[in-house]
Amino acid sequence: MTTPDISIKLAGIPMKNPVMVASGTFGYGPEYAPLVDLAKLGALVVKGISPEPWRGNPTPRTVEVASGLINAIGLQNPGAEGFLRDYLPFLRKFDVPVIVNIWGRTIEGYAAVAARLSQAEGIAALELNVSCPNIKEGSKSFGSNADMFKRVVAATRAVTKLPLIPKLAPDVFRIGEFARIAEAEGADALAITNSVPAMAIDIETRRPKLANVTGGLSGPAIRPIAVRLVWEAAKAVKIPIIGIGGIYSAADALEFFIAGASAVAVGTANFLEPTTALTVADGLRDYLARHKLGSIHELVGTLAC
Ligand code: FUM
Repeated sequence: MTTPDISIKLAGIPMKNPVMVASGTFGYGPEYAPLVDLAKLGALVVKGISPEPWRGNPTPRTVEVASGLINAIGLQNPGAEGFLRDYLPFLRKFDVPVIVNIWGRTIEGYAAVAARLSQAEGIAALELNVSCPNIKEGSKSFGSNADMFKRVVAATRAVTKLPLIPKLAPDVFRIGEFARIAEAEGADALAITNSVPAMAIDIETRRPKLANVTGGLSGPAIRPIAVRLVWEAAKAVKIPIIGIGGIYSAADALEFFIAGASAVAVGTANFLEPTTALTVADGLRDYLARHKLGSIHELVGTLAC
């Protein structure tokens, strides 16, 4: 049998394989370039960019817990101009689709950053961050209210021709409803999911372990939640879904494809082993060969139940 084909076209973007690296876990590229061949990634999703630079939350901002990590970075970033000046020229040197995660504190802010980035060469798509649990204004406040969500997707859609990928929160009551709104407002794909609101307490001081008190839990602890959300959303819409949540191995990623994802993104695992996305892609090829499947498409949404 010939080697299985794991290349995909997602939202019109050709990718060598369906394994990306998730926003917030891979910096802006240069941080990982000495460790990973960026050109071998399906796509690279950079940390959230807002219209202006943003300092993020006070420290401590991360804490390890059983089977995961809680972070409260607070979307620190160099702003749209800083990203275009300091990072995009570097990323353009690599043959890899660059997806920019964007956020704003207002709907106008989302539209402004989407419009500005759309003028640049070398950005494959925009991922709409409406699910970060760590800032008071913006992001999740738009992703947990159906009406606000509809407005922010519509406003960004109106100002960009780039593929638009809303990243949905894990703790909405009905993910299918948000998926349908995104599809109706012109989203090209969905990213599911982001970190789950969580907290950890130092029992000696009785103080929260994070300065922000709460944060977002990621890693293997949330994988079963994410798989279920992908499965529910896939039943609600036709646009492709990128499955995200605690993927450390090809076996983990395969659950997402079978549930209905067309691609996946590796997140927290990048902090432990930066080449995880590449080993996941290799493992997908092996699985397809073992199951006599010619392409990854043959696996998507094949849950038997
Ligand atoms: O920067 C952040 O606080 C991102 C958090 C998250 O989405 O998990």
